[in-house]
Amino acid sequence: MYAAVVRSYQESPKFEAIDLPEPSGAHDAVVDVLAAGLHPRVRSQADGSHYASRGELPLVPGIDGVGRLPDGRTVYFAAPDTAFGSMAERTVIDVRLSVPLPEGADPVQIAAAMNPAMSSWVALRRRIAFRPGQSVLVLGATGNSGQMAVRIAKLLGAGRVIGAGRDPERLRALRAIGADETVSLAGDPETAARRVGEAAAEVDVVLDYLWGKPAELAMVPLLKRRSDRSRALTWIQIGSVAGPEAAVPSAALRSANFRLLGSGQGSVTTAGYMAELPALVDAIADGRLSVNAVPVPLADVADVWGTPAGAGQRIVFVPTRGAGA
Ligand SMILES: NC(=O)c1ccc[n+]([C@@H]2O[C@H](COP(=O)([O-])OP(=O)(O)OC[C@H]3O[C@@H](n4cnc5c(N)ncnc54)[C@H](OP(=O)(O)O)[C@@H]3O)[C@@H](O)[C@H]2O)c1
Repeated sequence: MYAAVVRSYQESPKFEAIDLPEPSGAHDAVVDVLAAGLHPRVRSQADGSHYASRGELPLVPGIDGVGRLPDGRTVYFAAPDTAFGSMAERTVIDVRLSVPLPEGADPVQIAAAMNPAMSSWVALRRRIAFRPGQSVLVLGATGNSGQMAVRIAKLLGAGRVIGAGRDPERLRALRAIGADETVSLAGDPETAARRVGEAAAEVDVVLDYLWGKPAELAMVPLLKRRSDRSRALTWIQIGSVAGPEAAVPSAALRSANFRLLGSGQGSVTTAGYMAELPALVDAIADGRLSVNAVPVPLADVADVWGTPAGAGQRIVFVPTRGAGA
């Protein structure tokens, strides 16, 4: 059978014949893969830069997907932590890390949307005691996960939601999906940080997809303008598209009730993630949450890998064998 195979972290995966590993655990099952999303996390898995990378090659990338079990049921699955992931015609899953799809759910939409959706869903439901009515700033709201975060904050009862991002068109479009206000991060970074401070000084929660300079520069302007600095502000670090490091000003931690924490693989247990996924599958299946998914044959993996997805799109690989089965 065929899969996307990484043989060197310096090169894109190639569509190659490879043997399927034997299922070995009591809960293992072989699925026909119907769809697997090309998330930023998968790119960092395939180039060896993700913090969870184990340095094992060859590697079949893919952290999740939709597959069909031998009994015909279709499931969303999180790929087990092995060197054989979801970007293959067939793969081995641990059925305990899977969620049955409701009748009529679109495998491509589910494979595209689960990863960006769970970033904010899990952060708000598992990392903090988020209360309806609280207000949220989404830093990096123009990406797939940031757009989802705007929708999800509202779905979970947020009062005011402010979206901050660079792309002007997608920033404008955030209003239609629930943002009460938007802030442009375009142009001079310090001026942009001041704009964030002015717009978002009273929020309760920051969902941060950027980190790097935009996060570093926004902290103090935001805290300084707060009417009551003893009221908690929880900054949840989720993504780092603007840089892996940010210098946290010591004054930020002393001068305000400022809590900084992260949400991702490791800071939330697998059981914690799995408990949240059925509700998320339902919200995607019934259309409350969606992303702009672009299905691409898995055979084209090498060509597509090097070309960034169009703005606001999520590529989903569709192995033709699985899709046609
Ligand atoms: N921890 C978790 O649970 C979790 C789960 C999912 C994703 N993530 C992480 O979240 C991040 C975003 O993922 P995604 O799915 O939204 O990716 P995406 O769809 O590729 O979007 C990334 C967005 O980042 C913006 N961006 C890039 N560099 C920027 C910069 N220097 N300043 C401001 N904006 C910048 C771009 O927006 P513009 O076009 O406006 O520039 C782009 O649309 C990634 O780091 C990903 O690994 C974490």
